[in-house]
Amino acid sequence: MSSEEKRYLWWQKGIIYQIYPRSFMDSNGDGIGDLPGITSKLSYLEWLGVDAIWISPIYPSPMADFGYDVADYTDIHPIFGTLDDFDRLLEEAHSKGLKVILDWVPNHTSDEHPWFIESRSSRDNPKRDWYIWRDPAPDGGPPNNWQSVFGGSAWEYDERTGQYYYHAFLAKQPDLNWRNPEVQEAMLNTLRFWFDRGVDGFRVDVMWHLIKDDQFRDNPINPDYKPGAYLKNLPEGVQLPQEIIEMAEAQMKYLPVYNTDRPEVHDIVRKIRQVADEYPERVIIGEIYLPVERLVKYYGEHGDGAHMPFNFQLILLPWNADEIFHAIDAYEKALPENAWPNWVLGNHDNHRIASRVGRDQARVAAMLLLTLRGTPTMYYGDEIGMKDVPIPPDMVQDPPAKRFPGLGLGRDPERTPMQWDSGPNAGFTTGTPWLPIADDYKEYNVEVERNNPKSFLSLYRALIGLRRSEPALHVGSYKSLPRNGDLIAYERAYGQQRFIVLLNLGNQQQTYTELGDIPCQVVLSTHMDRHGEKVSREVNLRANEGVILQVEQ
Ligand code: GLC
Repeated sequence: MSSEEKRYLWWQKGIIYQIYPRSFMDSNGDGIGDLPGITSKLSYLEWLGVDAIWISPIYPSPMADFGYDVADYTDIHPIFGTLDDFDRLLEEAHSKGLKVILDWVPNHTSDEHPWFIESRSSRDNPKRDWYIWRDPAPDGGPPNNWQSVFGGSAWEYDERTGQYYYHAFLAKQPDLNWRNPEVQEAMLNTLRFWFDRGVDGFRVDVMWHLIKDDQFRDNPINPDYKPGAYLKNLPEGVQLPQEIIEMAEAQMKYLPVYNTDRPEVHDIVRKIRQVADEYPERVIIGEIYLPVERLVKYYGEHGDGAHMPFNFQLILLPWNADEIFHAIDAYEKALPENAWPNWVLGNHDNHRIASRVGRDQARVAAMLLLTLRGTPTMYYGDEIGMKDVPIPPDMVQDPPAKRFPGLGLGRDPERTPMQWDSGPNAGFTTGTPWLPIADDYKEYNVEVERNNPKSFLSLYRALIGLRRSEPALHVGSYKSLPRNGDLIAYERAYGQQRFIVLLNLGNQQQTYTELGDIPCQVVLSTHMDRHGEKVSREVNLRANEGVILQVEQ
């Protein structure tokens, strides 16, 4: 490693792997994954070659939103284990060179958090102002038109004290009042609690929600809103109850101008960053769903915001060469100076990549993720080609979906248990898994794929290995190249080393004609069968094929 390369920090050079703890590995047979389960699989992650794990919330919680409703920020839910189990996990991860990133949910607590129990107990309770309480509107209805992300008004009436409280998500997830300095102090101290234990960073839940308008103004009507738009976007033949249509329409009708992405949120982000900066080499990642030009503001005006505001474009954009190519360029251009880019291909809130684009194209997506400039975040199971799993109505767990079972809504399909082997329950549990296991797990699992040199897992491992070993890929420059048809092309370079990535985002064979006379060698194909092939001028790519070429010196 050159000394220049050492300037880059672990979270810049490395690859992050998201673990949804309920579904990774169950050590005690209760059907739900846990911390000792994760610890038992750290050697798999070391073998895979990732650098850090991000674990979705493991704190005590009534699990109304599966841990995103925290009842205690400084302990572990017994379902996942104990603080000792956590310390063991951390120690073992560190001994293997793996960093550990926790999820932090500062926007809201559970309604069962002692702070909220106090806050709702009376209007003059000292913690009243820790949450967002408002008088009813003159007609007795909610104070304004703000909508919950999970549907319906974001205001819940509390009989006892005759006021409404604000909840951006479920009513069981009241929003904290981040304008209150006591809230700031108490919450920032929960970060210190985990940093002191050795945690390497945080993924900060819904960062752009943290501050709401101090005047509680109504959100404006979206000028592009057309009644019935939601129905128009539904797949043919899908019938939904009127109630759900109305909720979805209400959400599309208003622009969330006054309850999200307020200018003052950046003061809070800066304070979060300052806490991380009290410790060496810790990372703050923000979960933010915003258009790129607003997203990049979360890096902070002087680089004093989040180290990485998550970039979800590969999840949100339609999967075609034009869109993706322009999005990469636009993102590269929008990044402030010294801001470190990042890319995310999947997470626990969105359909899995193999379901969105098909398994063949998902291999191309993997090559894209792992050759772009900026830290890649992978979602557990994507590396073995896991797909969304259909959930029978009586097994639906996700709260927004539970209200309307049988409609295939919600986020359970992308949260099903990791497929470790071909044994019962894919080796995930000896009990009854909390969500069903995929039907095709005997074909798509770690054990089987490890032994197949062309499997999904082998491709991921090869991509990760290459990215790790080549500075051009983990810290090098990015340059887009001329493209044709369904192909996208770019170059990554560092010093003398140059790599050209050609990706066929279509399902027809295509020829890349823009290479010129540069002599190149294939170092990896998504089909894993062209290694060492010499190419120049014209490069043929099969349907759903991506190749990484090394430019010969
Ligand atoms: C984030 C989480 C999601 C959760 C929501 C509310 O978007 O990723 O799973 O439901 O926040 O906390």
